[in-house]
Amino acid sequence: MDHLKTGEVISKRRRELGLTQNQLAKTLNISFQAVSKWENGTAYPDIEMLPRLAAALNTTVDALLGYRSVVTDYDKRYEAEEYYWGLQPNRICYDIMKLLPPIRPYRVLDMGCGEGKDAVFLAKCGYNVTAFDISEQGIDKAKRLAEHNKVDVRLFKADILDYQPDDDYNIIFSSGMLHFIPKPRRQELCDSLKAHTVENGFNALNVFVRKPFITRAWDSARDEELRHPWHSGELFGYYHDWLFHTCREEVFDCNSGGIPHKHCMDTLIAQKLEAGVQIEGQSGNAGSGR
Ligand SMILES: C[S@@+](CC[C@H](N)C(=O)[O-])C[C@H]1O[C@@H](n2cnc3c(N)ncnc32)[C@H](O)[C@@H]1O
Repeated sequence: MDHLKTGEVISKRRRELGLTQNQLAKTLNISFQAVSKWENGTAYPDIEMLPRLAAALNTTVDALLGYRSVVTDYDKRYEAEEYYWGLQPNRICYDIMKLLPPIRPYRVLDMGCGEGKDAVFLAKCGYNVTAFDISEQGIDKAKRLAEHNKVDVRLFKADILDYQPDDDYNIIFSSGMLHFIPKPRRQELCDSLKAHTVENGFNALNVFVRKPFITRAWDSARDEELRHPWHSGELFGYYHDWLFHTCREEVFDCNSGGIPHKHCMDTLIAQKLEAGVQIEGQSGNAGSGR
């Protein structure tokens, strides 16, 4: 497990939410000096304060204490020799290939790449692929897969919540990971992805969405704390100013954890148009994510 100091976690989460020390203090009905002391490590929050503080910062007590349990959760699944998600590429990879065939080594970013099946497939097809995941085990396995397939993929461990793209990409891709992003971080993240996409480039993303007729069947109670399903159509709203090539919502069966259940997923492939180009026939702000 990774450990961060509690004061650092509080400071980071507070800034991510755009709160001042004073605003946080007011919510908790305490002095701003108390918040300042926590953040500079000269005092710790009272144990009874932790659940309230976690709620005010839209996080968990575990996270406040520096436990990044999502890491161990996926690390465990990726420990086995076989590939947890199999080796078949996601069908979005084929959609990407149709829209931007790899006639040149176009730059692709795969966020939350897991064990690398999609990143390696796209590299084999001729794209120049960068991929990251929060799971060290996943990245190690992805490196082995790339080596086995004799392709170069720039692979590293990173947390999407801290990650700042260091390049611009033709395609930014992510499958099965966006539900780890709490709602207050989504607008900023999508803005950053859009800014780091070249003109005429694509973002190809999918996300689990909540539906009233689907009961939640996450793999564990702890998982439930970490997951933040999006609302139906929310993803599309963040991209209202891009051209949609794929915009679909599907309910499908799943058997993870050995319990048959259903999920609902929104998938978007959207294109950044050149400045000044108008999109005809696409409604302005459907299901805005804000
Ligand atoms: C459902 S898996 C999908 C993996 C891969 N995209 C695939 O389709 O095979 C979700 C992945 O998101 C990663 N993940 C979870 N939280 C993350 C975070 N904060 N930053 C980066 N990756 C994260 C997990 O480690 C896991 O590999």
